[in-house]
Amino acid sequence: MKLITAYIQPHKLEDVKKALFEADVKKMSITNALGCGAQHGFEESYRGVKFEVNLLKKIRIEIAVNQDYVDKTIEAICKGARTGNIGDGKIFVVELDDCIRIRTGEKGKEAIG
Ligand SMILES: Nc1ncnc2c1ncn2[C@@H]1O[C@H](COP(=O)(O)OP(=O)(O)OP(=O)(O)O)[C@@H](O)[C@H]1O
Ligand SMILES: [Mg+2]
Repeated sequence: MKLITAYIQPHKLEDVKKALFEADVKKMSITNALGCGAQHGFEESYRGVKFEVNLLKKIRIEIAVNQDYVDKTIEAICKGARTGNIGDGKIFVVELDDCIRIRTGEKGKEAIG
């Protein structure tokens, strides 16, 4: 199992949701985030105030998946979020030790899917 965390532009959330749905990925958590990448947030949006870094609004998507869903989840996020411009976002993939469905006590592969 992997935990896929993506930071995307807020205005691409609907496109990403659509691409995930089409790829049969229907479980996700979404939160608002502030962040910056290689440009320290400046080239994307500069409002004339000088800070060390400029934190921009991003959407964080977290999706825990079984191994056979890793590639299609990443592809769907890229398809929905890419414009080709800086700030399109980034995806992090980490090993996930376990998942527990609280209602049933199921663990691992059965609980995640
Ligand atoms: N190394 C990182 N660690 C944690 N969060 C990051 C990292 N890189 C990017 N992010 C998050 O992803 C968001 C989008 O990053 P962004 O797409 O600007 O990356 P980038 O490396 O600057 O690429 P680009 O040159 O295409 O803009 C950031 O605002 C931040 O929230
Ligand atoms: Mg950037």
